Amino acid sequence: MRKTKLHIIFIFGIIMAFACDSSKFSKEMITELKVDSLLQEMTIEEKIGQMNQLMNFVDSMPLDPYFYDLIKQGKVGSAINVFSPEMIQEMQRIAFEESRLGIPLLIGRDVIHGYRTIFPVNIGLAATFNPELVMETAQIAAMEARSEGVNWTFAPMMDISRDPRWGRMVESSGEDPYLTEQIAIASVRGFQGNDLSNKNSIAATAKHYVGYGAAIGGRDYNTTLIPETELRNIYLKPFKAAVQENVASIMSGFNELNGVPTSGNVYTIRNILKSEWGFKGFVVSDWASIKNLQVHGYAKDSLDAAQKAIQAGVDMDMCSNYYSENLKQLIEQGIIEEELIDDAVRRILTVKVELGLFENPYATSENELLTEKALDVAKKAVIQSTVLLQNKNDVLPLSKNNKKVAVIGPLANAPYEQMGTWVFDGNEENSVTPLAAIQEYLGADRVNYAPGLEISRSLDKKGFNKAINAARNSDVVLLFMGDESILTGEAHSRAMLTLPGSQNELIHAISQLGKPTVLVIMTGVIHMVEPYLKEVDALFYGWHPGTMGGPGYVDLLFGLESPSAKLPMTFPRTEGQIPIYYNHNRTGHPPSDESWVKMYDIPVKAWQTSLGNTSHYLDFGFEPLFEFGFGLSYTEFNYSDIKLSKNVISNKDSLIITAKIKNIGGVQAEDVAQLYIRDLVGSIVRPVKELKRFKRVRLNPGEEKIVEFTLYPEDLKFHNGEQWVIESGEFHVWVGNSSKASLRSEFELK
Ligand code: BGC
Repeated sequence: MRKTKLHIIFIFGIIMAFACDSSKFSKEMITELKVDSLLQEMTIEEKIGQMNQLMNFVDSMPLDPYFYDLIKQGKVGSAINVFSPEMIQEMQRIAFEESRLGIPLLIGRDVIHGYRTIFPVNIGLAATFNPELVMETAQIAAMEARSEGVNWTFAPMMDISRDPRWGRMVESSGEDPYLTEQIAIASVRGFQGNDLSNKNSIAATAKHYVGYGAAIGGRDYNTTLIPETELRNIYLKPFKAAVQENVASIMSGFNELNGVPTSGNVYTIRNILKSEWGFKGFVVSDWASIKNLQVHGYAKDSLDAAQKAIQAGVDMDMCSNYYSENLKQLIEQGIIEEELIDDAVRRILTVKVELGLFENPYATSENELLTEKALDVAKKAVIQSTVLLQNKNDVLPLSKNNKKVAVIGPLANAPYEQMGTWVFDGNEENSVTPLAAIQEYLGADRVNYAPGLEISRSLDKKGFNKAINAARNSDVVLLFMGDESILTGEAHSRAMLTLPGSQNELIHAISQLGKPTVLVIMTGVIHMVEPYLKEVDALFYGWHPGTMGGPGYVDLLFGLESPSAKLPMTFPRTEGQIPIYYNHNRTGHPPSDESWVKMYDIPVKAWQTSLGNTSHYLDFGFEPLFEFGFGLSYTEFNYSDIKLSKNVISNKDSLIITAKIKNIGGVQAEDVAQLYIRDLVGSIVRPVKELKRFKRVRLNPGEEKIVEFTLYPEDLKFHNGEQWVIESGEFHVWVGNSSKASLRSEFELK
């Protein structure tokens, strides 16, 4: 046994010697040689072992002898949810030093929005419209994770979410394919760096492939029905970008797509991902999603499920044990070829070699956790992700001179909850809550704190009186409402999107006092906030902000920074409008203010056709409460002078679009300039608007800058159900600071 491992090391040595000696060997070639040399040594059991991910062991030392043996025999390629660094070290030691071939393990973990330093939940990170900042958050998460031996994350999630009832929208970048793509690229770059073998890098996973966010009714795990045009133009777009960014792995989903589960889907995995796009990494199933093929009624037993998954192109089985139990039999019975296994194992080993695990599989413990830099980035992410939705009478920013400030609400001092969903490694002791940060900023004696409700779901109103008194005795009231993190995320979809418990009553009771009142909503859900707009002066959508929530909010509330976040999802007025998203296709009956005759204005016994026929709701019209891309600032920006470098372009030209932005208010601030287009006529119906570019711009009061964007014919490309096309014709182009931008110009593609 020892002999074989030495043999592999010897081969690796020769490969390295050659490589050093000759510039003809590219890094890819060396990796390929290493992987091939390993593959030749492997038994079929060892190969299948690489495709097997271990879970459900007792995560306390010493390792259970059963799992010890599995790893030692080379029957495990990866482990998930190993929480203690000591256990990670031990498992890696067994694999690397005691198994026959010494193949290290991929240690997979959901490092979703931070590892120990927790950043805002992902929908909040998307609200920054700042890919560079998102990249920094991923870099920090990678560095912290690798310092404890984690070398593979199941992120970024890039499921387009057009339905806020879907609990997992919190993990997404929202409804827009371009924004999602940009955030996805930035995250992959942040996690993986330029070189996976760097001690600060971990392998990333683009998930959930594909269409998972289109669950009917927003109910998690539900059926998805997506026509080819939508699949290509909307749902696959970020995945393709991640593949071009060399993402190490892709996770197949739980959902069935047009009748075929995505973890057994030849069309999406084998044909599109691996063949059409040439994806070189490996595909991991979602948690037991191979087993679920049976539950879907798509496979009759475990053998059938394993066969369908491997044939579809799923390379690693997360937690079903179906590969370890069935693949050998499938080969022996001649049902599948061993080449299928070789291809999967080659992909997995390639990532292991690229990660440098054969040189050092262990934790890079010199990396520090929760550094000053990490906390600064976390705070900046809070500042840039918190969306100002209303600021009546400029109640914000608050003056530091207010003598007393009331801090009220179940989220004001909830260090665990503010971290949000999918946090395995963050510690609540590291969270700085809004209460702590405000006390620190103003001095504790100037803060009247009363939570009003113990937790977000409390129905018991016994804390109301204290909260009302705290408000009454203060000059200004800050309400921190929202959700416990467990009310958001996977399997936590909601049909009613109002604040839970007695929070509505608490807001109402406080609003009766007539004090200047600011509401900050801390959540991973999009709530129906229209009623609150009448009850409070200002409304911040703060998401679950992570470790540095409190300090970030203080800077915004007291005007040390101006808000600049923008909504990555449309905010409906009521649940009945869902799904509602800005880039919907054009209808043959477009609505307008004139065409909407409100329900109670309709004359009695009105004639059926007398009201006209347009696409709206009698009771709620056709507009959302807040549109995609919307978010207020403490200043105002004026957009003017849109100019195009050409008015007619060919499909080889690029087009430069410029516009002037002026800060016409009194404070320095950043805005997100957004560029939208509309393709006026297409061989299939085209969206009313599509985001194509965005840019953050910082301006002093009175300052004016020119923002410049370049569009390429590629940006005008779409799939018409049969093929990708760039069609000649006219386009409208808008620049502004939301999807309702009105500054417009035109061009023609000839
Ligand atoms: C989720 C994935 C996650 C996996 C591992 C599944 O339930 O859908 O997103 O990465 O579990 O924890």
